[in-house]
Amino acid sequence: MNSELLIKEDYSLRDYNTFNLDTTAKKFIELKDDDEIEYFIQSEFLKEGILILGGGSNLLLLNDFNGIVAHLSNKGIRVLNESVEDVIVECEAGEIWDDVVSFCVENKFYGIENLALIPGTIGAAPIQNIGAYGVEIKDVLVSVEGFDLISREKRVLTVAECELDYRSSIFKTTLKGRFLISKVKLRLSRKKKFHLNYRALNEKFGKRSVDQISIEDVSSYIKKIRTEKLPDYKILGNAGSFFKNPEVSPEQLAELKKEHHDIVSFATTAGTYKLAAGWLIEECGFKGKRIGNVSCYEKQALVIVNHGGATGKEIKEYSERIQGAVKNKFGINLTPEVNII
Ligand code: FAD
Ligand code: EPU
Repeated sequence: MNSELLIKEDYSLRDYNTFNLDTTAKKFIELKDDDEIEYFIQSEFLKEGILILGGGSNLLLLNDFNGIVAHLSNKGIRVLNESVEDVIVECEAGEIWDDVVSFCVENKFYGIENLALIPGTIGAAPIQNIGAYGVEIKDVLVSVEGFDLISREKRVLTVAECELDYRSSIFKTTLKGRFLISKVKLRLSRKKKFHLNYRALNEKFGKRSVDQISIEDVSSYIKKIRTEKLPDYKILGNAGSFFKNPEVSPEQLAELKKEHHDIVSFATTAGTYKLAAGWLIEECGFKGKRIGNVSCYEKQALVIVNHGGATGKEIKEYSERIQGAVKNKFGINLTPEVNII
């Protein structure tokens, strides 16, 4: 085991968050393997304020971080068990999520191709149960391994214990800020099967038989849609959708439709409806509306962008204007998806 970790002080987080915010960490360390993670867990560092950092693609940093930022960059993808039906893949938490997707696509392990190009690490993927185009990590997650930052014990949580829900998990509720995920296990299918119910996918592939579609076709098409619709954070800082899509009852939806006939909604399996927050925000006039260095992206109002030089506080203030306007016009509360630190 390492006897010490390299600590950087007053370290810029500019390249570690996709809003491109120029904040600093009082202390910063890299955790590159199991030994370094275990050393960190047993160390005095745990008495300080801690921020576990992956790719920084779902964070809004309001201030300099006056504690220790632990950046996970442990790498490794292993195939543990293979049967005719499926395969278990174990990944170190610091693996880039999209590299895991590419590994699975190359090996024809079906299940996460719809989640191509989501930024960030696999260790963070269960935190908000990442999802896109009709698939969530919940559909393939077996378990996570990690450490409770209070008891310092190693724990394995099964998918059920992770309490994954729409953009939520136990790591955003009961275990918020007190669990470090070090490894993630996924179960992928070796049998060819796709999730093509999402409208754009259905329009593209719906008329073909499964034999006429490849896993590469699906992941490439997802990448194409995403690249057309979402801003490149290296150019326009952002953290993807800023808010969750709000859920309403059938009765609430009927009431809203009386005044707003063309409101965009999607039925959920729970019998409720999700409203497209992007539509609500656009209707309030925020799409492309710039205040200082902040705006909603001109092609996707749910994505707040930093045109350069904005502070976390300015972005938060802008988001609060949106919340106020949507509440005023529709009576709907928008909840941030992004982790505000
Ligand atoms: P970070 O931003 O580093 O951290 C996010 C949270 O997880 C923080 O609270 C952090 O403390 C915690 N955390 C990180 N790693 C660990 C760990 N190993 N153990 C414990 N806690 C940890 N999300 C979607 O769901 N679907 C999308 O389609 C999508 N599209 C996006 C598009 C763009 C352009 C961008 C910028 C973001 C998008 N996101 C999307 C959001 C984001 O990519 C995901 O939430 C991603 O999982 C965040 O990973 P990260 O490593 O960057 O996490
Ligand atoms: N819409 C508008 N105006 C806009 C944006 C959207 O009217 O400016 C309406 C359109 O009718 C559109 C509908 O909203 O058809 C849905 O938009 P989109 O398909 O872009 O999806 P979304 O609901 O805005 C969600 C996720 C994304 C995920 C996509 C694809 C949330 C909060 N966001 O966005 O996830 O990639 O679906 O599945 O659930 C993220 O979480 O960061 C993220 C990007």
